[in-house]
Order: sequence, then structure tokens, then C-alpha cells
Amino acid sequence: MGLDQTSINNALAGGYWSVKVVDTIDSTQSALKSSHPTHGDVIVAEYQSTGRGRLDRTFEAAKGSALLFSSFISPRREKSEWGFIPLLVGLSVAEVLGIEFFTKWPNDILSDLGKVGGILCEIHEDGIVIGIGINVDMSEDQLPVPTASSILLTTGHAPERNILLPAILKEIAYNLEEWESGEDLTDDYLDSSATMGKQVEVTLPDGSTIASRASGISRNGELLLDNGSIISVGDIVHLSLN
Ligand code: BTN
Repeated sequence: MGLDQTSINNALAGGYWSVKVVDTIDSTQSALKSSHPTHGDVIVAEYQSTGRGRLDRTFEAAKGSALLFSSFISPRREKSEWGFIPLLVGLSVAEVLGIEFFTKWPNDILSDLGKVGGILCEIHEDGIVIGIGINVDMSEDQLPVPTASSILLTTGHAPERNILLPAILKEIAYNLEEWESGEDLTDDYLDSSATMGKQVEVTLPDGSTIASRASGISRNGELLLDNGSIISVGDIVHLSLN
């Protein structure tokens, strides 16, 4: 079924989210940014011609096979603490998708079969544009890379995107409110994490690498390693199964 703006907004009535559905767009991330968004604005698309991932990568999905959206929030905590937001968003997505899905630091959603989704958070004006792409009804031959997977391939069932989107937005709003009121969500995040306790190789922005065991998360979302390193930006590979 196609995305239905009325049914999505009806499911979100009483909250602050306001969702606009578009058929085809370059990128929901760029479109939302250029719309001068206010807190709660969301754009969701059936297809993106130039979907973007972290570190200037592309994010590709056949029309209707993924949930592709960007939302804007103005968090009510100090900007210096916003590093936790991408983790809060990943936690929210994993909670909604269920026990077969995990977070991978910093911004991926995994199942045992591979990467099912990605999150791109970008500071914009007085807030953050949160872009989320989740492979929902994607068959094996539609996967963008062999290391990717989808909800369909993991569970045998593709959830209805008109239900999944409001559920994720409500969970983000719930966790955001907890965090804004001073709640420490680190333990919840660790419960969702496929990274914690694993031997990882981190690639830093300068191309150098560090291998160690992932042992924790700081209050601002940095990855803590057994060797004492504190990683705020980087890409990781899990080197061990546990
Ligand atoms: C990543 O895996 O590196 C992050 C992927 C984020 C993709 C989403 S899809 C909706 C939004 N629009 C974009 O162009 N990117 C994000």
C-alpha cells in the first residue's frame, strides 16, 4: 500500500508531528532543510533519487520498498549534549521494530542478516534534521549491497509503513521527552546495542584505525573502548560475534 498522509497524521493526532507525504524527491533530508522547518515537521517519500547516507554515501531503495523520512526537532537540552540524539533515535527505531533488531554504533539498525536501516542526523538552524531510512518490503534482489537486509527478509513479514512511521515518531517523541527531562537512557541504549562487548575496528575520519573492545557509551553518545579511547566520530566493523 502507498503512503497515506491523512492516515499517518490521524495516527499522530494530539502530538506535535506533522507529516507531508511526497511521491518522488531528491532527498527528504535536503527538502526538509530548505523548507525552514519547525519542531515536528516531517517529510516522507516513496522514492528518493539522491538519498544520502553518512559520510557522503548514497542511500538507495526501490520505490515503495523502504520507509524514507526526515524529521526536524529542536531539543530542549544544551547543544553540547545533542551527540546522544542519533543514539536515542536508533534506540527508538529498534524498540519499535522488535527483538530481532539492534543498534550498531553510531547510526545503523541491524538484524542478524545485515543492515536494515540507517540514521543521518544533521544540525540545522536551531535544531536537528533526523533522516531515517529503513528497508521494509525489500526482497533479496533489491538490496543495495550484499551486507544489507530488510524487515521482510528478517521476519518474513513487511509491516505497513502507514503504521510503522507513526509508531517510530511516537517512540522518538517519548524517548526525547524522557531525555529532555534529565532521564539517563544509556542503559536502554546498551540493551539495544549489537556493538557493546564486541571486538571492533574503528576507522577515524583521518583514515586511521583502532582495534579494541567496545565497552560503553558516554552520556553524549561517544563510544568508549577498553583501551581508553573515546570515539565521537567514526565508522566501525564488528570483529567478533560477541
Ligand atoms: C546511513 O546509513 O548512512 C544513513 C542513511 C540515512 C538515509 C535517510 S533516507 C531519508 C533521509 N533522506 C536522505 O537522503 N537520507 C536519509
